[in-house]
Amino acid sequence: MIKNLKDYDFKNKTALVRVDFNVPLKNGKVAGDDRIVKSLPTIKYLKDAGAKIILMSHLGRPKGKYNKDLSLKAVAQRLGKLLGEDILFLEDQKVVSDDLKERVKSLKGGQIALLENLRFVPEEEKNDPDFAKNLASLADVYINDAFGTAHRAHASNSEVTKYLPSFPGFLLEKEIKYLKDSLENPERPFVAILGGSKVSDKIELIKNLLNKVDKLIIVGAMAINFLKAEGIEVGTSLVEEDKLDLARELISLSKDKKVKLILPLDVVTAKGISEEAQSAVFEIHKIPKDQMILDIGPKTLENLKEELKDANTVVWNGPCGVFEIEQFAKGTMGLAKILGEIKGLTIVGGGDSVSAVEKSGLAEKFTHISTGGGASLELLEGKELPALKALGDSEK
Ligand code: 3PG
Repeated sequence: MIKNLKDYDFKNKTALVRVDFNVPLKNGKVAGDDRIVKSLPTIKYLKDAGAKIILMSHLGRPKGKYNKDLSLKAVAQRLGKLLGEDILFLEDQKVVSDDLKERVKSLKGGQIALLENLRFVPEEEKNDPDFAKNLASLADVYINDAFGTAHRAHASNSEVTKYLPSFPGFLLEKEIKYLKDSLENPERPFVAILGGSKVSDKIELIKNLLNKVDKLIIVGAMAINFLKAEGIEVGTSLVEEDKLDLARELISLSKDKKVKLILPLDVVTAKGISEEAQSAVFEIHKIPKDQMILDIGPKTLENLKEELKDANTVVWNGPCGVFEIEQFAKGTMGLAKILGEIKGLTIVGGGDSVSAVEKSGLAEKFTHISTGGGASLELLEGKELPALKALGDSEK
């Protein structure tokens, strides 16, 4: 059973908190602090409750070896700035050593420390019991607030729960509330919008959503395969030829399930992907042979506005086009605006669509924007996430 943080008395207890501070770095500085900001409610709660706080995270994929470019030092500095206090950075290439265990003993109630990148040792990704015990030995209680890593079974989010009383943090709870619980019995109409590049990456997601949604909107490069499967000529657009039968199968499945499948009506095209490329808009039946699809067109956006206007629950995963380039960003930005204006729940799951919503400046208008890429995808696919299972199974 997953327990509630608020049921525990943290006064003078040491709390070991798994966060996901896997954030982008540029020239040794944090280049995007969204994940750090979103972990603050849990950290502040523990601080106010008088806990000694030891944070831990991975950063990048150092493959079990020390790599100074992937040190969490810059993250400790950014966290310190956000909280207006010094964070004790527990620099240690082995993550936990005897010396570090001694240093931890001097922590005071309300003080915050951060361990070095967990993936500097191979035991983390191996879900190694001795390493997990070593981590657990630092504290009295364990909290997992690292939703972005919940699809991994690692020592710091799975095995560790066997050795300490274990609780979910507020961010983890919020992610589960919107990406899982609210979609189990959704307010209808329930609409999913899927974009991004490959159909092959999202087969499980589409199949799972077809059991739940009233409408499925397909945009982005993924839509190209569906258009082609419907016999539409798509010029020089990238087609996953070996996935066309699958696209046909999914189209027929949507009919069986009585889910309205909505594809683009028009598209923005160019001869290539570049800032300088000459773009044009074509209806899908009139795409010239030398053009590639790079965004959805204005007619499609109008149609999406109509299809979404009464939606009470919307999940969006994957952009409508190459939104990093201004002239192919109108579809994605337009969709963000439409979703920002509807009254129902609007949930953005993962990766590129999150960056797109942030770029649109409309993030505040969404109900929930997930901090997880792979984790949100797997949850939406209906899979059980190992770290959540470990929390639930924890008998401590
Ligand atoms: C992420 O950024 O998706 C998470 O932090 C997990 O990172 P990983 O894919 O390297 O395990």
